[in-house]
Amino acid sequence: MSKLIVNNCQRLYGKTEIKSAKNAMLPLIAACILLDFEVGFYNCPKISDVLVMLEIIESLGGKYRFEGDVLFVDCSALYLYEIPCELASKIRGSVFMLGPLIARFRKALATMPGGCKIGERPIGLHLDCFKKMGVEIGMGEHLYLRADNLQAKTITLPFKSVGVTENLIMLGCLTDGETTILNPAREPEIVCLCEFLKLFGAKIKGEGGNKIVIQGVKKLRKSSVIFKPVADRIETGTLLLAGLSVGCEMELSGVNYVHNFNLIKKVFNNTCKMCFYSDKIYLKSSGAGKGLGYIKTAPYPYFPTDLQSPVMAYATTLNGTTVIEETIFKDRFSVASELNKMGANVTIRGNVATVNGVNSLTGQEVTASDLRGGASLIIAGLKAEGKTVINNLEVIDRGYYKIENKLKALGAKVERI
Ligand code: EPZ
Repeated sequence: MSKLIVNNCQRLYGKTEIKSAKNAMLPLIAACILLDFEVGFYNCPKISDVLVMLEIIESLGGKYRFEGDVLFVDCSALYLYEIPCELASKIRGSVFMLGPLIARFRKALATMPGGCKIGERPIGLHLDCFKKMGVEIGMGEHLYLRADNLQAKTITLPFKSVGVTENLIMLGCLTDGETTILNPAREPEIVCLCEFLKLFGAKIKGEGGNKIVIQGVKKLRKSSVIFKPVADRIETGTLLLAGLSVGCEMELSGVNYVHNFNLIKKVFNNTCKMCFYSDKIYLKSSGAGKGLGYIKTAPYPYFPTDLQSPVMAYATTLNGTTVIEETIFKDRFSVASELNKMGANVTIRGNVATVNGVNSLTGQEVTASDLRGGASLIIAGLKAEGKTVINNLEVIDRGYYKIENKLKALGAKVERI
């Protein structure tokens, strides 16, 4: 298991470019199953979740290659619809392949997906929605899905599930008739997926709003495209919180600051200066700040659950109290015990974390148990006195590509061992 050594950092400075979003790349790779020609993606991060998705594509008969940061995926020779269990169980993203596999082959075989340990990761809503569209599902050692009689339907989601919205969009693209999703998730990564599919003639309207309508087509149109996915707003937010935590003068490029507005308006304070250009965010911060008051995670455009652990780390040394209510995942506070080992004062009651600011943290040996919790420990390590050793770096590599290089480019003293 790899470790990350994080030394105390007095200030971050410099520039860095943000790559395409992990949570855009995973559904986009799954969407390639709908296409029988090669497409490309700019700025693709070679993070482990992306590589596992590509391994699954290859196991189904597809091909991929990288030319620098450009990923090319070709599913023209795809002939299998059975996702290998050992791959499916590694990542949550494998569940996004069910919709496109059913759309292309009218059947799919898979197993329960993996994903970060942030509470139970059920897929019941995915399966319920598939059933409403005429998919027959057999549950045994594996998941057997078969759709001899696929029907376009109007489906109201009981909650704004990102993955279910994405699965239904991809399935609806090749389902005859009009599929309507009411109460869909509105994340930028979903809008990005729809923009991609429309390049090949998909008929989708309303993405990013409260009603998405997909008019099914027989086949998606061939077009030689290299697509630029949306930048990773969670990586952007993580670096902004690192800069706010230790003080900084930094510029993040390739971003859309609107996608981080929920964070910016929460953390912006009079000890920092922010400027927004077309695709850049400039941040100058003294590293000080008052407690953030009340934060409640919710589906986009509200405060993202994926920045809940990083903002907790930022709040540990603010002058005052921050109360964080986590409404998306049942067990996404596991990093709190590791932060408390470093001298933080975080108390958990149910789905509410109360962070009382302390003067400083002390570097310790800690363990990352999930992707965003790992990012939180990096932020804490940057501001802690002394040295912090973060075990289980693999979970951080799932969503942050060579995070040590990015931090070094911003002046941090970090080392992967
Ligand atoms: C996506 O996961 C993201 N992953 C997650 O990012 C993100 O935290 C989440 O959306 C919420 O924004 C990817 O896009 C690859 P959901 P997803 O369906 O689609 C429950 C990260 O750190 N649920 O919106 O799986 C579920 O347990 C990761 O980058 C069911 O109960 O999330 C959760 O409590 C973590 N049944 C809630 O809904 C289902 O069938 C929202 O989940 C599906 C979901």
